[in-house]
Amino acid sequence: MIVTPLPRQYYSKWTEISPAALEHNLKQLKRACRDPQTQIMGVVKANAYGHNVSQVAPVLWRAGVSHFGVATLGEALYLRQILPEAEHILILGALTTDQYHLALEEGFAFMFHTLSHLPILEGLANGTGKTAEVHLKVDTGMGRVGIRPEDMGLALDQLAKTERINLRGICSHLATSDRPNCPHIARQLQIFAEVVAYARSHLREPSALMYHIANSDAVFQYPEAHYNLVRPGISLYGYGGIPGLALKPALALKAQITQLKVVPAGTALGYGRTFITQRPSQIGVVAIGYADGLNRLLSNRQDVLLRGKRLPLVGRVSMDQAAIDLTDLAAEVKEGEVVTLIGSEGQHSITAQDWADQLQTIPYEVLTSLGTRLPRWSVD
Ligand SMILES: Cc1ncc(COP(=O)(O)O)c(C=O)c1O
Repeated sequence: MIVTPLPRQYYSKWTEISPAALEHNLKQLKRACRDPQTQIMGVVKANAYGHNVSQVAPVLWRAGVSHFGVATLGEALYLRQILPEAEHILILGALTTDQYHLALEEGFAFMFHTLSHLPILEGLANGTGKTAEVHLKVDTGMGRVGIRPEDMGLALDQLAKTERINLRGICSHLATSDRPNCPHIARQLQIFAEVVAYARSHLREPSALMYHIANSDAVFQYPEAHYNLVRPGISLYGYGGIPGLALKPALALKAQITQLKVVPAGTALGYGRTFITQRPSQIGVVAIGYADGLNRLLSNRQDVLLRGKRLPLVGRVSMDQAAIDLTDLAAEVKEGEVVTLIGSEGQHSITAQDWADQLQTIPYEVLTSLGTRLPRWSVD
């Protein structure tokens, strides 16, 4: 978690979080959920995908998000501390049997993903006198955790016989929702529909349960995946695999220039001498490095923005510093000027998706890799 930040003058690098962008993205999700009965679980695990959960969760809560998804017990405890009003916190990550009693003591809902844990959970619930609030995870084709769909009957029978295990939901997770029209999604959705139909016909009060499978991309692409709860994460932060969505990135990354220098042609810059100037060059050293999430593989490959222009990173990104070539700007830049690494300036914008494309990864990884020493300032 981000510790309480110091006053602004202490920092030469920071992120800016836009509550307006979060609200805008939530509005797009709500619009996609045509059935007003469908509730939204804001997925705020991994410190709200690197955006700082203590800023993000209250914005989402005020904008009407009723449920929150986290990955770990620690995240659930922290969220409860900062947003005690939020009653519906679901731990999405699989807990170990050792952690069940903590979830029980704290009263968090969690995923129940294997029948082999049932005797342990039941024993703990009986022993503590607490009731476990569980969402039954069914593996419809993700191939990680979850019971097999064909074990639904057995699972419902066994759960019905327990006194202190309260079945709150039935859920699954999609493996390929970022690939439009992937036949595997259709298969997963079909299996989940059968699982839900089975539950609805065998449970005493099926309407008391939440049924959920849709992540961000599925919310926008597959209305049949909505049921009464959807679990978007990345789209809240302005990204997603579906082209043409009007989402707004909620995070900008900025850093100041700490040194300016003019160097002759033939000057090697930084560790490994990976960049040698081909002309007399104006170089700016920027106070940000791979410890802040500026991946070292972006060395000599990624542009930044300054005064509305794209300028290249030159030389190897080091732990705390990186260099940019200011020569083409042909302007008198001052030390202390602010460079945008992710965000918009003038006609240009650089997104976490651009970094992800360079790094052959996904924006999730770029965003969650942003360092804890970067403060997250709220803007707008
Ligand atoms: C179980 C679960 N549900 C929902 C989400 C949100 O997915 P997305 O960020 O693609 O919307 C995640 C994210 O990994 C997840 O693990």
